[in-house]
Amino acid sequence: MMPLPPFFALQHFGEIDSTSDEARRRAAAGAAEGLVIWADRQSAGRGRQGRAWQSPRGNLYCSLLLRPGKPPGEVAQLSFAAALAVCDALPGPGAPRCKWPNDVLIDGRKVAGILLESEAAGDNVAALIIGFGINLKSHPEGTATPATSLAAVGVRTTPGTVLGDLCRRFLPWYETWRERGFAPLREAWLGRAHGLGGEIRVRQGALETRGRFVDLDASGALVLETGEGRRHIPAGDVFATG
Ligand code: BTN
Repeated sequence: MMPLPPFFALQHFGEIDSTSDEARRRAAAGAAEGLVIWADRQSAGRGRQGRAWQSPRGNLYCSLLLRPGKPPGEVAQLSFAAALAVCDALPGPGAPRCKWPNDVLIDGRKVAGILLESEAAGDNVAALIIGFGINLKSHPEGTATPATSLAAVGVRTTPGTVLGDLCRRFLPWYETWRERGFAPLREAWLGRAHGLGGEIRVRQGALETRGRFVDLDASGALVLETGEGRRHIPAGDVFATG
């Protein structure tokens, strides 16, 4: 693997419970930002909203520790930096697309998931852990959101290669966000957004809203044009209509 930029400090494990749990333990022990925990397999991989993330050998599982020192609302925008970096880092033909809030799709199927977790200190986020799960060799079947892998679309690569590219691609987005805020990320993300202009359903707990996905607002919320006007949705799961 090519050396990472000096910002990063990499720790590699054969197997671990969850790279995000390990990053959180290290954060609590005072680790500096730039720590990357990478594992070949996870025994307790976690997805968003308490879902499990199957983690067999062959795919990429890693978590990055950041200490952005900003309020939670702003820090949440880094999920878009993470999704953009994944899009940039994925090799092969065909441009990957970003699905709100933080999935990456190839041919309309989920190839990567991103999980943000943070620890607060006063009004600011003291530690942000961004977990990346990227399907390189295999993907789960029968998921609510159809999945794919790079292997399934004919691309062969290794976790180490993609990890290196992911770190190299993430850093400029992080620096851009620190220096210029969310606007440049928002613009780049909209340029790669999946389903922009189309009808979608957004589920927030038991509540489901239907409408046309028209924009991403200045905070990162999804803007939905509904029969009752525009709705700004800060968090939820997006599904196709039908
Ligand atoms: C999602 O639900 O889409 C997010 C999935 C995030 C999975 C990654 S794998 C590496 C890191 N460790 C975990 O336990 N989860 C994240």
